[in-house]
Amino acid sequence: MNKNKYYFIITYGCQMNEHDSEKVAGMLEEMGYKPTTELKKADFIFLNTCTVRKNAELKVYGKIGSLKQLKRKNPDLVIAVGGCMMQVSEPVDKIKKKFPQVDLVIGTHNLHKLPELLNQIKNNDQRIITVWDQEKGIIPDLPSVRQSKFKAWVTIMQGCDNYCSYCIVPYVRGRERSRLKKEIITEVKNLVADGVVEITLLGQNVNSYAHDLNQNYGFADLLKELDQIKGLKRIRYMTSHPRDFDLSTIKTIEESEKICEHFHLPIQSGSNKVLEMMNRGYSKEDYLKIINLINKYVPYNSITTDIIVGFPGESEQDFAETLDLVKEVMFDMAFTFKYSKRSGTPAAKKDNQIPEDIKDKRLQQLMKIQNKISLKKNQKLLNKTLKVLVEGESKNNPETFMGRSRTNKLVIFPKNEGITGKIIKVKIDKAQSWTLYGKIIQT
Ligand code: 5AD
Ligand code: SF4
Repeated sequence: MNKNKYYFIITYGCQMNEHDSEKVAGMLEEMGYKPTTELKKADFIFLNTCTVRKNAELKVYGKIGSLKQLKRKNPDLVIAVGGCMMQVSEPVDKIKKKFPQVDLVIGTHNLHKLPELLNQIKNNDQRIITVWDQEKGIIPDLPSVRQSKFKAWVTIMQGCDNYCSYCIVPYVRGRERSRLKKEIITEVKNLVADGVVEITLLGQNVNSYAHDLNQNYGFADLLKELDQIKGLKRIRYMTSHPRDFDLSTIKTIEESEKICEHFHLPIQSGSNKVLEMMNRGYSKEDYLKIINLINKYVPYNSITTDIIVGFPGESEQDFAETLDLVKEVMFDMAFTFKYSKRSGTPAAKKDNQIPEDIKDKRLQQLMKIQNKISLKKNQKLLNKTLKVLVEGESKNNPETFMGRSRTNKLVIFPKNEGITGKIIKVKIDKAQSWTLYGKIIQT
């Protein structure tokens, strides 16, 4: 029915969104659409949006604006906007009023309705704006077109119950819902049969997996079972909450063969006062305790984090405590953000907001310190041999290949045909803050 029709998906934000985009691709391909890498050639464009920070929203408006021309040239083009930003009423209203080129607005909870709605639009030449404010019943398993042949994301839970005071996620992704372990294990086995060697378990807070199912079973148990699956080589997971990261998970990782030794533990701030205002549910001391346990049980590791600067009420002293913590932990890498006001969250209502120029200054200061630490940590890997899963040509230089170590370090090495998707050994001979370079010593 949709023979010779092409789709183009633009994804903003986190891995959860990337994975949802794979599902959008899956639904479209079942409808007969084919992918295109040329925006001009597309009959259907889907923007999968993010709302976690203001910047992400601004990019989306800019993109929608630029699509107006394409629509003028091709009135049959269908433009759809989905994702977290569409779970918030303000942007939906704005699109309704200011961007008539958008034909469909769809939320995260009704994404599975996309084929039905797309047909409706085409048959009736109408505009549809439909966003469910929460999940209604069981969302079916959706077909998916994976970006990689040998790596896959697997959702284990959705939503978040933490209500960190700055964060919009609980409002747009709903309450925590865990998938049944049976479904997860079957999905992983099917992926492995299809050639996948690395999976990343996805959830806003994977460590509280299954808490809502009231079974005597948790994240560590799931990891243990997945570790037994033959043919699977690597297991990763995103994102962890320091409050729920327990010793049994750390010990499971130590004893396992496949779970990668990369710990992404968002600290957000190094000041107990700010952590309390953020409603994070742990203190700096609790956090350091977990880091010590990780270093004790899994000494060959990498630890990365997320940090927000300029949370309302963050004093110079609070910020200095964040810098001290960063120096103490020596993170391999940190994703650093300026606090962004999200309407509807408790922090947005505070009257002690930090001026933009101070946020900028703090961010620069933090990044400078962290870059030095990242470099130092990477330099420790000089002359070491790392096991690297080869992903293919590197983005900046097609003459070289890139891959990831178990600790999630980006490694660049000379091009070599026939090794994509394989785990090889690379000896590191150059280290930068974000990247390692080396020579292949075994394929
Ligand atoms: N402002 C800035 N950063 C934020 N994050 C979440 N909400 C906000 C916000 N309002 C950051 C947190 C989180 C990461 C995914 O995004 O650090 O861990
Ligand atoms: Fe947002 Fe906090 Fe939930 Fe993470 S744990 S998604 S920061 S509310």
